[in-house]
Amino acid sequence: MKNSIVMLGAPGAGKGTQAAVLVQQFHIPHISSGDMFRAIRKSDSELGRRVAAIMDSGALVPDELTIQIVQDRLSKPDCQTGFILDGFPRTQPQALALDEMLKNIGQAITVVPYLHVRSELLVERLSNRWTCNTCGSVYSLGPNDAKVCKKSDCLGTLYRRPDDEPATVTERVKVFEKNTSPLISYYSDRGLLRQIDGEQTVDQVTVALLAAIAKV
Ligand code: AP5
Ligand code: MG
Ligand code: ZN
Repeated sequence: MKNSIVMLGAPGAGKGTQAAVLVQQFHIPHISSGDMFRAIRKSDSELGRRVAAIMDSGALVPDELTIQIVQDRLSKPDCQTGFILDGFPRTQPQALALDEMLKNIGQAITVVPYLHVRSELLVERLSNRWTCNTCGSVYSLGPNDAKVCKKSDCLGTLYRRPDDEPATVTERVKVFEKNTSPLISYYSDRGLLRQIDGEQTVDQVTVALLAAIAKV
């Protein structure tokens, strides 16, 4: 069965962590709009600087640009067997645009897991998040833990995302509540939403997520 999955959840809810597990399980591409913008911001260009400033303020990149980059990615042949969208859509116009672009390529969303985590836990989670510079693996580490990737074939150095400072996280959570949480009822009305308790351990969340996907 084809899985075309939209991961919904606040900043730090565990979307990226669980998407990495789903990639192993289903061998379909992980499309993270945040990762695509982090690649764009690395470029020494006017667009890169504009995207960096928006991300570091905790705001959203304009819909038009966001929709364009996701549409380009979804039209690639590897998405024909399904995909995991992570961080997109995040606004009502993005959700409408996604429905339209999928219709045009003869696809449809099969399930929308919503990882629910109380906002007070998110700031703490994101303060402890470290990401590998080389392979992108994500870790939750305390101040005394070594900041080196644990994958034996990688051993890359780890960095903290500039938008994970507590003030920016608070803003990102507000933006989620205002702009993205309306999508919970958007997908629930279409019978696609599956709420999952994202406060369980990573493995427990995975079990619940796979069960929700299998029931589709
Ligand atoms: P994006 O990169 O999408 O960030 P986000 O949605 O804010 O989500 P995060 O990546 O912070 O959290 P996550 O849910 O992936 O959590 P993770 O698995 O890492 O977007 C960044 C920015 O780009 C936006 O602010 C915006 O500016 C722009 N942007 C992106 N998409 C856009 C769009 N569509 N429209 C407009 N602008 C857009 O986990 C977090 C931490 O918790 C990790 O340390 C992890 O190890 C730990 N953890 C995970 N699960 C558990 C668990 N079950 N128990 C304990 N710890 C856990
Ligand atoms: Mg993420
Ligand atoms: Zn690594």
